[in-house]
Amino acid sequence: MKLLIDTDPGIDDAMAIIFAARHPRIELVGLTTVFGNVPVEIATRNALALVEHCGLDIPVAQGAAHPLVLPPFTPPAHIHGAQGFGHLPAAQPIRRAVDETAAELMTRLARENPGQITLCPIGPITNVAEALRLDPDFARNIGRIVLMGGALDAPGNITPHAEANTYHDPHALEEVLGSGAEIQLIGLDVTMRAQLGAADFHALAEAAPHDGGFLNGMAGLYLDFYRSVGQPGCALHDPMAVIACLHPELFTMEETAMGVVLEGEEIGRIKRIERRHRSAAALDCDSGAIKSLFMDVIREAA
Ligand code: BDR
Ligand code: CA
Repeated sequence: MKLLIDTDPGIDDAMAIIFAARHPRIELVGLTTVFGNVPVEIATRNALALVEHCGLDIPVAQGAAHPLVLPPFTPPAHIHGAQGFGHLPAAQPIRRAVDETAAELMTRLARENPGQITLCPIGPITNVAEALRLDPDFARNIGRIVLMGGALDAPGNITPHAEANTYHDPHALEEVLGSGAEIQLIGLDVTMRAQLGAADFHALAEAAPHDGGFLNGMAGLYLDFYRSVGQPGCALHDPMAVIACLHPELFTMEETAMGVVLEGEEIGRIKRIERRHRSAAALDCDSGAIKSLFMDVIREAA
């Protein structure tokens, strides 16, 4: 499966990208970057570092620095760290981003591989909205979009109503949901259910020192944050979106038309609506199998 990941790395983004790079049935064809967990320049630097870490030769294209409509914001440093990888020092990749923008790379890859690419956005979805504006055929050319974002029935994680990726660019998600593309939302209804604790990261570091050691090195701050909000481990938000691309049998989806609240106290909330083509949202999952799959793929690649 050809996979293009749009990302704001970010600790769970790093987990998702390493998982995708190591999964024998995923061909990672590129990374595009967006503001979110960190400013976009740091997201790009971290994406390049992940490409080098994984020994890949794929393009990294930088995308949006701010939301479509909402004002720019400064990401909080207490979740992913000021440099994006917890307490690890700033990454120093040698590679450079390509000259194309994220939206240009997305539209070109989709045009060259019509119906063949799964796009997995795991940050604010601004670049995908820009790709839809850039190329009227993008919604048709892209195979499908499986995104980490939203909360349909579950409470939000940045406000009581909104999940962080959706909250940071609700206008972009509204455009994407209205585009006619095939879309699956993997949101907080499922992503809080599969978690990794400190012992899991230690086990990964022991079994797979290169990948597991790297992830264990960045996980401390993330685990501290989750502990501070009463969770025993960190959620597998972004890895679950990648897993859903390949293993739909591990998720129960509801087909429904969806829209996004664009103003007021509930801004960023996902709502079921009428009169729009249907997308799908995950409402349940086999969290045990998902966690095992994540651990196994990292361990077996060592
Ligand atoms: C999402 O927000 C970010 O902090 C994570 O990387 C994930 O994409 C979870 O709400
Ligand atoms: Ca992310």
